[in-house]
Amino acid sequence: MSVPCVRVPPEEGEATRQALAEADLLDAGHDITVADGWLYVPVSDPDAVPDEYEVVAFDAPVREDQTMPADLLGFEPSYERLGGVYILDEDDSERAGEIADALMACDLPVETVVNRASKVKGEYRIREWDVLAGDGTETVHREYGVEFLLDVREVYFSPRLATERHRVVEQAAADERVFDMFAGVGPFVVPAAKRGADCVGCDLNPAAVAYLRENAARNGVADRVTAIEGDVRETTDAYADWADRLVMNLPHSADEFLDTAVELASDDCVVHLYDIAHEDDPFGPSERAVRAAAGEAYDVEVLVRRDVRSYAPHERNVCLDARLSR
Ligand SMILES: C[S@@+](CC[C@H](N)C(=O)[O-])C[C@H]1O[C@@H](n2cnc3c(N)ncnc32)[C@H](O)[C@@H]1O
Repeated sequence: MSVPCVRVPPEEGEATRQALAEADLLDAGHDITVADGWLYVPVSDPDAVPDEYEVVAFDAPVREDQTMPADLLGFEPSYERLGGVYILDEDDSERAGEIADALMACDLPVETVVNRASKVKGEYRIREWDVLAGDGTETVHREYGVEFLLDVREVYFSPRLATERHRVVEQAAADERVFDMFAGVGPFVVPAAKRGADCVGCDLNPAAVAYLRENAARNGVADRVTAIEGDVRETTDAYADWADRLVMNLPHSADEFLDTAVELASDDCVVHLYDIAHEDDPFGPSERAVRAAAGEAYDVEVLVRRDVRSYAPHERNVCLDARLSR
């Protein structure tokens, strides 16, 4: 059966394997294979593979020494992975239970299996989960060489946004000041600090702020990360005119925070503004909102209009990168 593989010349194989392993994207259930002068590296999540790699469908052999969930179930289950927590999105509880049993019995490094029990909701943007197997929902997730400790029951974290976060973080320079207004457990702030940036992350959720501090320490960048707990509109006066780069990942309502963003911006600041918008005009609402908030104080230049992913029928999750120049 064909599985998604990164295809590279064999001489680039080891560097590619290492990069994909660091991003936690290797598919442990299939063998890396040489065929037709190419090396095929099976990957677990083709959407998260950085754009620089070519992803193709290839009939990679199943690893003989591994029992995979499909071997036990007779069908290929669908799941996402966050460290040792395997995430299902199954409406049928009997089927969910069968998949959970197979995941626990197979050779994958499964600690816990959870099923989505609600949408992402509330100010903290977290879900309810049914824990189907295992008992802990705290885990260590690895993304592009950075470790994140987090509890899926207490904080927001989407492994699907890894490529998008990497795109933003790669723009952060060593001497920059980066401010994440909705920082969560630090998936923008911690890797930006690893690149040498001076970073501040704010979050309303006390659990997220505690994990952000822990993750900064765990990755050796506690000295370059300041964590602030509270509403970013009320707790960040000390950082007026400070930020060279602002990250605003609170789709649906980030525009309500643009006045604060303008207060935090330095004379020359790039804003990464996430939104959920209709496919007919995915970037218009963000662009108009940024221009309105900037007013006479800043010139606004749109740098990138990024279509991140589908969110719902006819709705896109998008990111507008805009430069504010005073
Ligand atoms: C969609 S999550 C993004 C978290 C993180 N940036 C990421 O990409 O994983 C939004 C975060 O904003 C936080 N939040 C919501 N309202 C806030 C506010 N008024 N001030 C600061 N943080 C807020 C939530 O607690 C949540 O952790």
